[in-house]
Amino acid sequence: MKRRIAPSILAADFSRLREQVHDVVDAGAEVIHVDIMDGHFVPNLSMGPQAVAALRDFDVILDVHLMVERPEQHIAEFAKAGATNIIVHAESTPHLHYALQHIHEAGCTGGVALTPSTPVEALAEIRGELWSALCMTVNPGWGGQEFLDHSIGKLERLRVLLGPDVSVEVDGGIDTDTARRCAAAGATVFVAGTAVFGASDPADKVKELAAAISS
Ligand code: DX5
Ligand code: ZN
Repeated sequence: MKRRIAPSILAADFSRLREQVHDVVDAGAEVIHVDIMDGHFVPNLSMGPQAVAALRDFDVILDVHLMVERPEQHIAEFAKAGATNIIVHAESTPHLHYALQHIHEAGCTGGVALTPSTPVEALAEIRGELWSALCMTVNPGWGGQEFLDHSIGKLERLRVLLGPDVSVEVDGGIDTDTARRCAAAGATVFVAGTAVFGASDPADKVKELAAAISS
């Protein structure tokens, strides 16, 4: 399955957001990852549908990671703003199947994210509904954390559970070394915030990450 780099705008300079996104897309990023935090499911607040709408005309997969309680209540507004893939957390609602149906009805593909403590089996009954499974490789809520090593075994188990046709995203602490290890374990979408937008040249970093996951 195709491997893609997904810069996370959480670490971007918001005063130059479109310019920075333009640079990383030009360098080959095919996914732009947008982190939505509500101050409840995770302690921080981040951004809302306006951030998605501001990027909707880029020719990329807009990957919206909802770190919010009861995400099914917000799907329609993110779909309307231009989301391509909407990811909800398995821990955030008892109605995952319903949430995925709602995402599909809104015209988007859907994904489910797992925090580090949630076992891969949480996806067993809904794997047929998924475009992507997002394996959090840090605890959700903050950028710039260190990659959790137990994620490698979890990725291997996810790939076995999901088969070859579902994207497996890794999110948190991704740089060239961790991206390479995650690729070997079956990951196909590589979310990177600090590594890309904290670099002196984000476009160069995208190319470096792409080289790391293709070797
Ligand atoms: C964390 C977010 C991540 C974050 C990753 O809760 O889901 O997408 O932007 O940031 P880095 O790449 O800095 O670990
Ligand atoms: Zn994320």
